[in-house]
Amino acid sequence: MRGKGLLLFISLFVLSIVLVGCGGSDSEADGEGGDGKEGKTVGIAMPTKSSERWVADGSNMVDKLEELGYATDLQYAEDVVENQVSQIENMITKGVDILVIASIDGEALTEVLEQAENLDIPVISYDRLIMNSDHVSYYATFDNFQVGVLQGEYIEEQLGLNDGEGPFNIELFAGSPDDNNAYFFWDGAMSVLEPYIEEEQLVVQSDQMSFEQGATLRWDGSKAQERMDNLLSAHYSSEDIDVVYSPFDGISRGVISSLKAVGYGSDNKPMPIVTGQDAELSSIKSIIAGEQTQTIFKDTRQLADAAVDMVESVLSDEEPEINDTETYDNGVKVVPSYLLEPTSVDVDNYEEILVDTEYYSEDDF
Ligand code: GAL
Repeated sequence: MRGKGLLLFISLFVLSIVLVGCGGSDSEADGEGGDGKEGKTVGIAMPTKSSERWVADGSNMVDKLEELGYATDLQYAEDVVENQVSQIENMITKGVDILVIASIDGEALTEVLEQAENLDIPVISYDRLIMNSDHVSYYATFDNFQVGVLQGEYIEEQLGLNDGEGPFNIELFAGSPDDNNAYFFWDGAMSVLEPYIEEEQLVVQSDQMSFEQGATLRWDGSKAQERMDNLLSAHYSSEDIDVVYSPFDGISRGVISSLKAVGYGSDNKPMPIVTGQDAELSSIKSIIAGEQTQTIFKDTRQLADAAVDMVESVLSDEEPEINDTETYDNGVKVVPSYLLEPTSVDVDNYEEILVDTEYYSEDDF
């Protein structure tokens, strides 16, 4: 009996050491992360692969996060709102530690973000503001109003509007009405262009001057092409068009296809000024070929850095760097934001802005 008792005692002793040891190594594993990276997964929901910029945004973020030791779950929803909602639901179910979301429809995520809130999964709004939810911790983006101002100022300078030149014919395109950014681009551009429209230095032959009339659902280039076809046939059979205000490269390329189809870009019919945004590779090629005139460069590497900084800070219960606490009201709260500076690019400076900074290499063109 004494022998058995001793054996039992020794077994219990060994077992307790093993258990304590396990517990110890568990907390050590957490501790090794120290900064909380070990075993943490960042869910990244992106709108679509059909535009080059979002592909770059996604891969930049994955590279940076993985370098820092995070796991990532990157999903693209091909501009279908329901896909994005279910992708986010899946990420929540799989237990991601934080979500970074570039929404398709900024108003469509309220319910799914309630699920995230119930499980304490923080949310960072990426490039586009998520509307109608209090469960958005921070917003990383570019100065979206300034994007529009730069586009408007480019038109102003190229045409010499400030020196009283004109009248010139212009048509106006806006972005997707479910994307909060679209209103900022429009408002920024109109803050420059509207006075010239009032002075009739700029003339909108179609009279389609409201955001709603110019809007392009889901930023779809083929929809813009269709609208441009209609504008040209209805209003430009005897007039030439001098400028197209476009807020995004995908829209600009649709517009340009339409213009080329009726002979613009030939010797006796020069291409009008066509603005854009995102410095997508196909648009830089188009600028070099003398078709698109301008674009706005928003360095997705910087945006990814800002978002990753927010991820790191939120996961370690710290405040990320913020430089705007006033502009981005999502209907429920003003979301603290970090705004980056956009840059205007055309044929004269694309090498300096895009090649010298290694965003693209000369071979890409
Ligand atoms: C906006 C974004 C722009 C452009 C556009 C279409 O939200 O800020 O840079 O990418 O969507 O994708």
